[in-house]
Amino acid sequence: MSVSDGPVFLRSNAIIEPLVDRFYAWMHIVSPAAAALNLAKVQVPLLESYLQNPQVHLAASANPALRGGYFVNVEESRSMEVATLLDTIKRDRADMLAFADAIAEANDLLRQSATGFDLTPLYSKLPAALNGLVELAYDTDNQASLHLLEPVLYTSRFYDVSRQSIQLSLETGIERPFILSTPRLPGPDVLELGIPFTHPGIDELFGARIAPTTVSRLREALELDDAQTEQLRRLLTDEPSLSPDRHIEDGGRVRYFGHACLVIQSPGTTIVTDPFISADNRHGDRYTLDDLPDRIDYVLITHGHQDHIVLETLFQLRKRVGAVVVPRSSRGNLCDPSIGLYLKALGFTVVEVDDFDEIPFLDGRIVATPFLGEHSDLDIRAKSTFFVQIAGANIYVGADSSGIDPVLYRYVRNHVGHADMAFLGMECDGAPLTWLYQGLLTRPVTKRMSDSRKLSGSNAQQAAAIMTELGADEAYIYAMGEESWQGHVMATTYNEDTFQIKQIEEFLGWCSANGITAEHLFNKREWRW
Ligand SMILES: [Fe+2]
Ligand SMILES: [Fe+2]
Repeated sequence: MSVSDGPVFLRSNAIIEPLVDRFYAWMHIVSPAAAALNLAKVQVPLLESYLQNPQVHLAASANPALRGGYFVNVEESRSMEVATLLDTIKRDRADMLAFADAIAEANDLLRQSATGFDLTPLYSKLPAALNGLVELAYDTDNQASLHLLEPVLYTSRFYDVSRQSIQLSLETGIERPFILSTPRLPGPDVLELGIPFTHPGIDELFGARIAPTTVSRLREALELDDAQTEQLRRLLTDEPSLSPDRHIEDGGRVRYFGHACLVIQSPGTTIVTDPFISADNRHGDRYTLDDLPDRIDYVLITHGHQDHIVLETLFQLRKRVGAVVVPRSSRGNLCDPSIGLYLKALGFTVVEVDDFDEIPFLDGRIVATPFLGEHSDLDIRAKSTFFVQIAGANIYVGADSSGIDPVLYRYVRNHVGHADMAFLGMECDGAPLTWLYQGLLTRPVTKRMSDSRKLSGSNAQQAAAIMTELGADEAYIYAMGEESWQGHVMATTYNEDTFQIKQIEEFLGWCSANGITAEHLFNKREWRW
């Protein structure tokens, strides 16, 4: 090799964008049944709509009032690439599209024929695509539904890793446009690799944030050709840029890394909640991947929303994490894909927990606690809050859980004890049902229904009720999606008059009147004891 092959590290601002058929990957487009439904009912119609009228999509994408809407933000001169993508999906993913039709057909069958009598005769009438992959069952109210055998689905043709690819690039510092509805096309500054998400080369690359590797090792690990190797060099540097204070020697520390991400540390243990971390260390206004300890014992995932399981951060950490702790799903309910199976399929070591399960560690324990609401009243069990008891502190990680029934938090306090710090989400005017779940709905809902079932966390009154019942000393409002490096996933636009911000102010006023220390977090914050 002509250029020296000395030790190299990954640049601080290197990012990975995991894609599925060119769409930015998140659980509902990876997990097989949800992916088939989203492909058939959201992504294909979206691409077709764009191709009918690209200008409408471009205008909508440029309109701040429509931020986060499902529009394809691809310039018209590249619409042929979108057309090719659509053709490829229709041809190569015909099985998945048929699976989505089969779900609809099976639900029709149940509606018409599952009338409280024996379900055995219906198995032979199911569409063939579902054979071996579902069980039919009544609930105690005689309502029949399909139960997916989800672990089996992951071994079937409906989980096709050839859909997966990654894009590697450098974070530019320019806020990224909303990403969930726009397929990622190739770009000159992007190293694009058609490898599955579990490819070991990904871990070799991100291991080079901490320990040096060489270009030739990376080339081999990622199976690169000459041109790709040259592109890879842009992501590499001679010196690591890790922060010297990323570990602590005594006591305890919590650092707010933005949104729902907390790094909770003692000298012997590190716990990271809902990792969604900036790779851009040029600003000083935030903690970045440089500030993470080398080893992370537990990652805690609170729920499956795309701002809480963020693959572009998780893949960077895969080999540094002991285990990802995830809430157990209801096993087989279409709207409740298993987070555990999803992350296992993506190469993570997973521990699934139910409410009040405990994970002891060296100098403390994690207790999983219930998560209420915030899922548009869908029967989704894969959601959890957590208490982290570490270095003498008891920290409540409340994520987007709502105070819709505050008595719950009394039970929680009785079980887990008084909290020193409570982190609460107050996105109290969230997106409507269809924004996130449209693809999974097997029966249409009216706009009024959808708008009445928002993905909302606590409002001021509910947050106050949680604090009262928990008896926590300090309240910190987080998970509001306000940090600039999250715009591509969050698409929130707040100003001082926005309902959520008014509610936060009201809650902070209540805390102050009740002698509770409280703060609305933004960008970064540290607590040390
Ligand atoms: Fe959420
Ligand atoms: Fe959230």
